[in-house]
Formats: sequence, C-alpha cells, structure tokens
Amino acid sequence: MTRPKLHFTPTKNWMNDPNGFIYYKGEYHLFYQHFPYDTKWGTMHWGHKISKDLVHWEDKGIALYPSKDFDRNGCFSGSAIEIDGKMYLYYTAIAYDQLNPDNIHVTGNKIIASQAMLISDDGIHFDNDKKQMIIPVFQEDQIGHPNNTRDPKVWKEKDTYYMVLGSQYEDKSVHEMRGEILVYTSHDGVCWDYQNRLINTDFDSNMWECPDLFKIGDQYVLIMSPENTIKDGTNYPSHAMISLVGFNPDTCEITMNNDMYFLDYGLDVYAPQTTLDKDHRRVVINWLRMPCPSEDLEWNGVYTFPRVVTIKNNRIYFSVHPEIEKQFSQSVSQFTLTNAMKISVDVKEGSRLDIGGYKIWIEDQKVHIDRQDVFVREAKLFNNDTKVGTKFSTPTLQDGCHLDIYVDTQVIEIYVNYGEYVLSNVVYGMKEYLKYENITDLVMFEAK
Ligand code: FRU
Repeated sequence: MTRPKLHFTPTKNWMNDPNGFIYYKGEYHLFYQHFPYDTKWGTMHWGHKISKDLVHWEDKGIALYPSKDFDRNGCFSGSAIEIDGKMYLYYTAIAYDQLNPDNIHVTGNKIIASQAMLISDDGIHFDNDKKQMIIPVFQEDQIGHPNNTRDPKVWKEKDTYYMVLGSQYEDKSVHEMRGEILVYTSHDGVCWDYQNRLINTDFDSNMWECPDLFKIGDQYVLIMSPENTIKDGTNYPSHAMISLVGFNPDTCEITMNNDMYFLDYGLDVYAPQTTLDKDHRRVVINWLRMPCPSEDLEWNGVYTFPRVVTIKNNRIYFSVHPEIEKQFSQSVSQFTLTNAMKISVDVKEGSRLDIGGYKIWIEDQKVHIDRQDVFVREAKLFNNDTKVGTKFSTPTLQDGCHLDIYVDTQVIEIYVNYGEYVLSNVVYGMKEYLKYENITDLVMFEAK
C-alpha cells in the first residue's frame, strides 16, 4: 500500500490546512489548502473532495484559484456554511507586495491579506469570477493587521452569523507582536461588522492562526493554532491548541482561562477545522504536517481521522468518527501493513510495543513514543530547516491505560483512555512487524 487507506490525502502534490469542511445536501465536502504543481507549499488553491460517509472520497478538482487582483497570489484558509441552500465559502485573499524573483509562488516580502467570499449554488461549481471582498486590507490605524489577518471561520447562532479571524497586533509596552482573534457579525453572511477581539498577554505567541469557536451543549470551545509557542528548537514551534472558553453572543466577548491543551500530543497536528456531521456531532479534522513528500513521492500532507469532540466532567475527549470506526469490525491475528489496522490493548508500567520500528511504552504514568527509527533525518517543512521532534509523551494519566492504536500507511494515531489524549504521528519506512512485552490483552482488527 503506497497511500493510507482510510486517511485523507491529496490525489497529487501538496496539501496543508483543511478548509470549508461541511455536511451539505447529503454529502461531506472537504476543501484543502493545495499547491497543484509540486509536493511543496506554493500559491494556494482550494482542492475539493466529497464523500457520503467520510471514508470514500471523490476528487472534484480545484474549487478556488487566484483570479482577482486581491487574491492574485493565493486563496488561504477559510470555511463554508449553507445559506438558503447555497454554499458560501469564506477565505483569505492574498496578494504579495513583491514577487520573489526566483519563485513567484512564495512572497518576496510581505503578504497583503483581505477577506473574501464566493457563493456557489450547488457546492460543485465555483465561478471564480464572482468572488467578492468582504473585509478589506486593514490600514495602519485600524484594528487588525494588514499582512497577518486570516482564516475566517463562520458559523450561525440564532439569527446572526459570526466570524472569527486570526490576527496579530503589536504589544507596544514590550514592542512585540502578539496573537489575537477578531470577531465579526453579519445578518446576511455578506456584510460584516467588527465587534470584539480576544487578546491574552499571558500566552506567548506572535500570531494565532485558524481559530475555530463552537459550542458543545452549552459549552464553548476554542481551537486555534498559535505560532511560535515552543522555542526550544527541538520541534515544530507552532501547535494546535484547544480550550474551554466563554463567549457572549451579544457582545462577542471571548473569555479564556489559561488552560490550553495540545489538541494532539504527537505534535504533528496543525490547523484543525470542525464542522457538524449529519447527526449534529461536532467533528474535527486535522492536518498532519509531513516534513518530506510521501514514500512514493506523489503527495505531501495527510489528515487525521475525523474525530468526534465531546466534553465529560469539564474535559475534552476525542473519538474516531463512527463511520471510520465501523471499518475495523473484523478481528484478526496477523499484523499487516497491506491494510489499515487497529490494535486495542491494556497497558501498564513497563509495557512496550514496537510497531514496525515505532516504539510505544508506559513509564511514570505517561504514554511515551519514539519514532526515530521510522522517520526522516532531514526535515524540510516549508523548505526551511524546521526541526521536527521524534519523541513525544502524554501528560500524567490518572487511572489505568487503554490504547486504541490505528496504523495506516505512513500514519499512526493513538487514542489514550478512550480519547482523553490522542497522539498522532507521520512515519516513514515502517516495517511489517508487531512486537510487544508486558502485555496480556491485545486484540487486532483489520479494515474492511
Ligand atoms: C496555517 C496557515 C494559515 C494560512 C494557510 C496558508 O497552516 O498558515 O494561517 O491561511 O496556512 O496555506
């Protein structure tokens, strides 16, 4: 198998953030940041695939591409909603202030960002001539950054449409850039008014990307991808975080305590996006960053399984979406790499697993993993020398430890204690064996 069987990948070339994830007229639509000409990041388009079940995806080609002066250098991340049967796509329009003489697909200096939208009658045809700008580039004295304001996520509550945008501002007291979220409202999904902003000076990040604010029951949850929070030089510096927050729909005030958690402790996850599935469950899908193209050199970028997000006792849990979970109904005794596998196992202090070179063990009441033997030596995400870590662990577990481990081509996802924590990793060169010690209960399932 050269491609994951159940994980979402681009048919060819580069993919980063999930965009416009929506259940629309009986089908799931998943758009994605896409560079169609190479396995590395460049001028952003929106790729588009649709699915009836979140398992089988049909490639619908490119939905958004640069076509206006304001988005001449790219269509950055954004979201989708349905209004009166039409699909509304919101995205960040990018123009470069200078071209890079060696590569027109990356900026020569600054990006100039405005927010734009496109209405599609059917979610299949996207007339790129009909794009319209909805929030122009910010001027110096305005709230919001002219270059780094992006990733509109739109939702509806009662009769109002809401939008959160990631942005940055200068904290003049320390002359440092800091992340912020801007909140807008609209009565028709087209004309937008600024309402409020969230800043948090305790939280050390210079830009907050891809915010997503949603409700589970009566509880609001905020996901975002703050840049440059880990500064030790051993891993990607930026990571997706999740937190329970307060939100006042009248004033658009977001209240944040400082309990932000990694959305995934494997630390490859970035830029998650949520939507409601056909049964109104909150589902998140996440980009797993890949420092090099796939083993077959055809594609770069993979998403985690769609995960259902729930809250129990004030804690956030993730579980594999039931449509994916039901693929693993057949129990088997032989481990194979020719199909996606699930390994369910109770582990204790001293338990160890080695899945084709990917090592998992329990020590000091934490799950630890080491992917050193199934990873690339040189990591070049975004063509720079970003360091990518190989060893990860969960926070301390309270009682006992059950693992559900999903193994697919180049991807491993580990759900600890039924989703209290999840660790997901991209791997390269995994071998076809499973070894374990200090483990008595282990069951395996192979995908249908
Ligand atoms: C996050 C991100 C977004 C941006 C997009 C560009 O990975 O940087 O903030 O819209 O990727 O591809």
